[in-house]
Amino acid sequence: MMVTVNENYLLLKSSYIFSEINRRVEEFQTRNPDADIIRMGIGDVTRPLPGAVVEAFHRAVDEMAGEETFRGYGPEQGYPFLREAIAENDYASRGVDVTPDEIFISDGAKCDTGNIQEIFGLDNVVAVTDPVYPVYVESNVMAGRTGPMDESGRYEGLVYLPCTEENDFIPPLPEEKVDLIYLCYPNNPTGTALTHKQLAEWVDYARDAGSIILFDAAYEAYIQEDNIPHSIYEIEGAREVAVEFRSFSKNAGFTGTRCAFTVVPEELEVPDSEGKMHALKDLWNRRQTTKFNGVSYPVQRAAEAVYTPEGQREIRESIDYYMENAKIIRESLEKAGLRYYGGVNAPYIWIRTPEGMDSWQFFDRLLNDAEVVGTPGVGFGPSGEGYFRLTAFNSLKNTVRAMERLSELSF
Ligand code: MLT
Repeated sequence: MMVTVNENYLLLKSSYIFSEINRRVEEFQTRNPDADIIRMGIGDVTRPLPGAVVEAFHRAVDEMAGEETFRGYGPEQGYPFLREAIAENDYASRGVDVTPDEIFISDGAKCDTGNIQEIFGLDNVVAVTDPVYPVYVESNVMAGRTGPMDESGRYEGLVYLPCTEENDFIPPLPEEKVDLIYLCYPNNPTGTALTHKQLAEWVDYARDAGSIILFDAAYEAYIQEDNIPHSIYEIEGAREVAVEFRSFSKNAGFTGTRCAFTVVPEELEVPDSEGKMHALKDLWNRRQTTKFNGVSYPVQRAAEAVYTPEGQREIRESIDYYMENAKIIRESLEKAGLRYYGGVNAPYIWIRTPEGMDSWQFFDRLLNDAEVVGTPGVGFGPSGEGYFRLTAFNSLKNTVRAMERLSELSF
């Protein structure tokens, strides 16, 4: 007998998109040690944690140092103080009904969107928008819900919903019946958003088809326009068909600190093979209690401070700062004569690469001639070919410098 490998892993591309970019950038830096590279590739924030968050974080660390106030394992689902603050501030204040016990605190929307598929049967048909955050696709590949990737870059068995210039990046409803649908809005990578009406069509579809929407709202804090929903539960009937993922990473700078949450409404149920219904909330709770021991107490106290008036003021400032970068990027692209999308309700700008240049060629051009790093659209799926993503998450100074360099290139 020999140990065997999970062969589903062998179906994956050899590396995760952001690891591949890092590898190429490091190689470039080694060849050009004096290169002053500006990174606008991975969607990682650069502004420090808000003062209110840092203070709460410190206080909680001090509590961990006292015999009376020390805490060991916390609840796997998260501390009530944080779940209550979320229910009140992210939902009730918008007139949305989500109770604290439907909220599960975690260490990241990446982990939750990657793990959620475990509680669904392997025979479910999965639909993803294309381009897409690779985690939704790859976690399903790892689980064995797909065949190999074909020459077009699509995994067999997955349903791809192309979102391109041609359809204004609005995902078309699937032609075949699908069971699980991943939607991320405001969208990573295209930076575009869906209006209430457009999202309502998806909720209606899911209700009719008996599907479940896995709704990633990690970028909701960047929404500037009134007709864009911050939560899928703003749409009538969504509680019966949608799980929602949120994060403190992009609104409050927690990419390195790690805190996020997932909402699984009470009403959400799925049948077993005999037709008996099971509450998804209980299954997710079962999964989390076995595989997860919760987020650390200081981190949850830090996240709670996001909802204080001071925390809110500070996070708004950071978001405005990044959105000012987005505006600078949009204006510079305009001047350079490049077509682009997004950057209005999201910190991502999705550029159409110039005629005759594919995503990786544009990546190389920017890296070699401007020392600016972005993400090739094709890394997010076959419909991302011919596009390129820049993030607004760098400093204002670097964003301005990067755009000056870009404006010196001719395309
Ligand atoms: C991205 O660049 O797409 C982000 O890093 C996504 C993430 O938060 O994992």
